[in-house]
Amino acid sequence: FEPKVLAGRRVLVTAGPTFEAIDPVRGITNHSSGKMGFALAQAAREAGAEVTLVAGPVSLATPRGLTRIDVDSAQQMHDAVLPLAAAHDVFIATAAVADWRPAAVQTQKIKKDGTGRPPAIEMVENPDILAAVARLPVPPYCVGFAAESHDLLAHAQAKRQRKGIPLIVGNLGPATFGQDDNTLLLVDEAGHREIPTASKRQLGRELVREIAERLQHR
Ligand code: C5P
Repeated sequence: FEPKVLAGRRVLVTAGPTFEAIDPVRGITNHSSGKMGFALAQAAREAGAEVTLVAGPVSLATPRGLTRIDVDSAQQMHDAVLPLAAAHDVFIATAAVADWRPAAVQTQKIKKDGTGRPPAIEMVENPDILAAVARLPVPPYCVGFAAESHDLLAHAQAKRQRKGIPLIVGNLGPATFGQDDNTLLLVDEAGHREIPTASKRQLGRELVREIAERLQHR
């Protein structure tokens, strides 16, 4: 990656799904593979950045030269990210964080009770990690991701403003979870631009270039 557009910068990345426990053997998760986040973290490292990668449960090898912190739940991801964020120049939130978690984790496996009635699982909302980082007194440059089933541009622009972040990246593909390729839509204050379908490795490099450019003009 020449020139090293992120030399001297510190970049924090979240990646993968979260796992929200129901009881000791069950939980709620999603199909995020972590590939986009790992590719971005690797591209940032190759561009000269010092990279911290906070990963949910994924089966991916750690790219060379970066610091990886493994977590399971959204709360754990939040608690790992928040104390680190202010010491970074860039925060890229690629993780597919669960919106809700069971209000209580049962200490014993939930058993069928013989009545035929399923258990009711009460849910509570998880903290929004990206919005919390963006609200820091001196936040890093924050980049969010948006996966929408329809009206991507309008939803992404609204989400960018609601979370108070300068840049959001929309997934233009139908289902990108687990795939090696993706098509992205960059949405910022100035407008939007499509990055054509490419491998997540290649997209990672292009996104790093875009982010580095915006950092310069910050
Ligand atoms: O609100 P929504 O989940 O659609 O926003 C997606 C963006 O926000 C992604 O960048 C995701 O990593 C981040 N996010 C987060 N914490 C949450 C939910 C989403 O950091 N609890």
